[in-house]
Amino acid sequence: MLLMIPGPVQLHERIINSMCRQMISHRGAEFSKILKYCMDALKPIFGLKNGEVLLISGSGTAGVEAAISSFSKVKKILTIENGKFGERIGEIASKYCETKRLEFEWGRPVDLGEVEKAIKDCDAVAFVHNETSTGMLNPAEEIAKIAKENNALVIMDAITSAGGDYVKMDEWGIDVAVVGSQKCLGAPPGLAAVAVNERAWEYYNKKCPYYLDLAAYKKKLKELQTPYTPAVPLFFALEEALKIIEEEGLENRIRRHIILNSAVREWALAAGLELFPQPDGHSKYSNTLTAINLPKGVSDSDLRNTLRKEYGITISGGQDAVKGKIFRIAAMGNVGKLEVLSTIAAVEDVLSRFTKIESAIDVATKVLRDLK
Ligand SMILES: Cc1ncc(COP(=O)(O)O)c(C=O)c1O
Repeated sequence: MLLMIPGPVQLHERIINSMCRQMISHRGAEFSKILKYCMDALKPIFGLKNGEVLLISGSGTAGVEAAISSFSKVKKILTIENGKFGERIGEIASKYCETKRLEFEWGRPVDLGEVEKAIKDCDAVAFVHNETSTGMLNPAEEIAKIAKENNALVIMDAITSAGGDYVKMDEWGIDVAVVGSQKCLGAPPGLAAVAVNERAWEYYNKKCPYYLDLAAYKKKLKELQTPYTPAVPLFFALEEALKIIEEEGLENRIRRHIILNSAVREWALAAGLELFPQPDGHSKYSNTLTAINLPKGVSDSDLRNTLRKEYGITISGGQDAVKGKIFRIAAMGNVGKLEVLSTIAAVEDVLSRFTKIESAIDVATKVLRDLK
């Protein structure tokens, strides 16, 4: 079986094996060493020098909710929404502070002029970097620049970008960013890392939910511990996943993600398929997944059920508004040419039974040649 969905991802054998061991005390020296290693290794992945990475046992959403609720001492937060996860940010923010929701159609770019206008009466902004529901990479640096000109706090969901694409918190001016363990880091689901710079604490709201209070995580860091019992096996796995990233080198890893996912994109276009997102130069195609319109005459179950049954490959469908209209192929984590080529060859075969499609695997192999 092969998982080519945007998380959970296929696990490297070393990561699977790292979890097959006896438990350790989460208050002992061995756990502290693992926690410290994970926090230190995550900092360059976020592009953060001054600040800390706080690890929560919970999914990516727990990380986003911790970030927004812990730093909700704001007059008004602007949320930028052009897909499912942008909408979720708007829903989360609405629970904790006055929220102005700036909405764009799914798959359409963020209009930076609209952001500039909307931010005027806001002192914080939250948005998704890599919008997984549509395959669009939002212009983080440009949004942060507008926010800084208005002296606003910047919170970014980097759940499906960090570890697979560039995230440069210090350079871009992002104050808080979140990643989930089960995406480009290549670990199993269940941990969220929240990277926080020093400035963010000016916005700290002590009325945030108890378990998600980031000040508690920061305080306990002095003892190199988490405030509550962490998901210890997932820390074993995250440590191993981060060692694999260190061995590969972050630049190489990002380059690999860019090449693998552009191979999928180039293949789709050459096969005569249409990509779902419509970038404008500021917004770009995602480097970690590709969203493709389902061709006429092919249903979601025709494609995905046949793929799973005959090839053992799982890809994603569309969510909410685009359910049944698109399919998504993700190359995240530790997959390589083999997995990408098998997936597109299988998708091409299944689609060709229902619709006319060009054979375009050679286009992908040419792109993949750049990956030695
Ligand atoms: C961009 C983005 N944000 C948030 C989430 C939610 O993460 P989780 O399902 O780990 O809570 C996802 C999950 O796919 C995502 O892709």
